[in-house]
Amino acid sequence: MEKKWWQKSVVYQVYPRSFQDSDGDGIGDIPGITRRLPYLKELGVDVIWLSPVYESPNDDNGYDISNYRGIMKEFGTMEDFDRMLDRAHELGLKIVMDLVVNHTSDEHAWFAESRKSKDNPYRDYYIWRDGKDGKEPNNWGSCFGGSAWQYDETAGQYYLHLFSKKQPDLNWDNPKVRDEVFDMMDWWLKKGIDGFRMDVISLISKDQSFPDGKPESTGYTDFNVAANGARVHEYLQEMNRRVLSKYDLVTVGECSGVTLEEAKKYGNLEGTELSMCFQFEHMGVDSDPVTGKWTTKKLELPKLKEVLTRWEKGLEGIAWNSLFWDNHDQPRIVSRWGCDAPEYRERSAKMLAICLHMMKGTPYIYQGEEIGMTNYPWKDVSEFQDIDSVNNYKEIVKKGIMTPEDAFRALKAKSRDNARTPMQWDAGKNAGFSDGTPWMAVNPNYTAVNAEEALARKDSVFYTYQKLIALRKQMDVIVYGDYNLLLPEDENLWVYTRTLGEEKLLVVCNFSGKTVSFDVPEAFAAGEALIENYDTAGEGLSCIPPYGAYVLKA
Ligand code: NOJ
Repeated sequence: MEKKWWQKSVVYQVYPRSFQDSDGDGIGDIPGITRRLPYLKELGVDVIWLSPVYESPNDDNGYDISNYRGIMKEFGTMEDFDRMLDRAHELGLKIVMDLVVNHTSDEHAWFAESRKSKDNPYRDYYIWRDGKDGKEPNNWGSCFGGSAWQYDETAGQYYLHLFSKKQPDLNWDNPKVRDEVFDMMDWWLKKGIDGFRMDVISLISKDQSFPDGKPESTGYTDFNVAANGARVHEYLQEMNRRVLSKYDLVTVGECSGVTLEEAKKYGNLEGTELSMCFQFEHMGVDSDPVTGKWTTKKLELPKLKEVLTRWEKGLEGIAWNSLFWDNHDQPRIVSRWGCDAPEYRERSAKMLAICLHMMKGTPYIYQGEEIGMTNYPWKDVSEFQDIDSVNNYKEIVKKGIMTPEDAFRALKAKSRDNARTPMQWDAGKNAGFSDGTPWMAVNPNYTAVNAEEALARKDSVFYTYQKLIALRKQMDVIVYGDYNLLLPEDENLWVYTRTLGEEKLLVVCNFSGKTVSFDVPEAFAAGEALIENYDTAGEGLSCIPPYGAYVLKA
C-alpha cells in the first residue's frame, strides 16, 4: 500500500461561528481562528477542517451557501481568509474547506434563475417535478422535518430539498452543474487550500424514478432512500480525474447512509475517489428504529464494538477509514458515552480519546473535545436554535410520536446545539470567546472547563490528546497495524490489539462506572505502558477503575 501523509495526520474541526470572536459581535470569525492557530499547533494536529465560511443566509448555519466564492460577512473578508491560510501554512498546518454541493441556498443566484420558469437555462440545475395526485411527487421526508418537496408558485412545480426548504438539492445529472462545481473547487485549490470535507456527498445521485421511501420515518432515516445512488461513484471519479488528482490533497466524504461495501469504493486505496469517508453506523447504535436519533437510549457497548470492529476489519487493505466521536452535528461524547459528572469527566474523556486514537484510520477532533467539553444544561425547549432540533421537536410532538417531556429529554441528549456552544478558552467573560453577547449561550461550566486551565495542568485531557497525536507520529503500528478485538461480548471493557510485524499494542478501555478486573494476556504481561489515564503502577493493570484506560506495548 502506498503511504499517504494524511494517514498519519490528525484533523481538528473548527466550527467558525463558535470558535473565537475577534470583533465583539458575539459570532466567531476568521481573524479569531487565525489568533488561535498557535493553540492548535501546540495540540499537534496537522489539518484543520473549517465548517463553511462562505456567504450564506444562515438557515442552517452556513450549510446553505448563496455564494461559493465569497466569505460570510459575519466571519470577515477574503483578505482575512488569505491571511489565515498563509499563517496556517507558516505554522505547518493544512486547511480543509467544507464543500457543500448536494444543495445550495435558495438565495443562490442559480436558484433565483431556476425558479423563474421552466425554460430558464438554470432550470435543470435543480430537481423540479410535478406533483402526484395533487400531492408531493413522492413521500420523501426532509431531514429537518416535513416533506422533502416544496411547491413553488412561480415555478409551478415542486423542488426537492433533502434538508431545509432553503436548501434546494442540485441536479448532479446535469453536466453543467458538475462543470460549475469542479471550476469552483479548482478556484479554491489554486488559492492553496489543502483539501475538502464533502457535505452529504453520498446523496448527490438521486434515483431518477424517485420511488417512495419508507412511510412515516422521521429525520435521518430518510437518507437510506437517497444515499449511494447509481451514479455517485461515476461523479466522484470524474471529480477526481478533473480536479482532485491534480493536487496533493486530503478529501473526506460525509457519507450518510454509507454501507461497508460502498465505503470500499468512496475511500479506495487506489485513490480514484476520495481519501476516506465518514460513516455513521456507530453514531446510530443508541438510536431508535422509529424516532431515529431522538431518544435517550443508553449505549450497549458490545454493539458499538461490533460496528466499529466491522468497519476496522472490513476496510483493511481496501480503503482508508476515518475515526470520530464528535462533530458539529453530534452531542458531546463525554456526556454521551463517558461521564460528565466532575468526578469522572476528565478520566472518561481521556478513555474515549485513547480508545478512538489507537484505532486504524485518521482521527478527527472536534473543537473543545480536547478539553473535555460537555453537553449544555438545557432548561427549556425554547433555548434550542438549531433547525434540526427545533423542527423535529415540533414534528415529533405534533404527530404524537413522543410526549413533549420525552422529546425535550431526547433533545437535551442529542441536539446538535450541544456541540455549538462557544469554545471555552478561559475563566473570564464569556469564556474568552467574545467581548460581546455570544450568539449562543456559553456552557456555565466554563470556569472549570477551559483551555487555559487545561494548558496549565499537565494531567489535563488536553495533554492526553497531545500525547496521542505525538504517538501516532512516532509509531507506525498505530497508523498501519492490524486491529483485532478481544472480549467482544464484554459489556464494560473494550479491549483490542494492534499488530504490525513484531510490534504489538494492547488497548484496554473501561466504558463503565465500575471497577472491572481483567487478565492481561501473557504476551503483554511485561509490557511497557505507552499511555494511561490512571495510576497503573498503583491500582495495577488487572484492576481497572471506572473509565480507566491504558495502552501496553509488548
Ligand atoms: C451535514 C452537515 O454536517 C450538517 O450540519 C448540515 O445540516 C447538513 N449536512 C446539510 O448540509
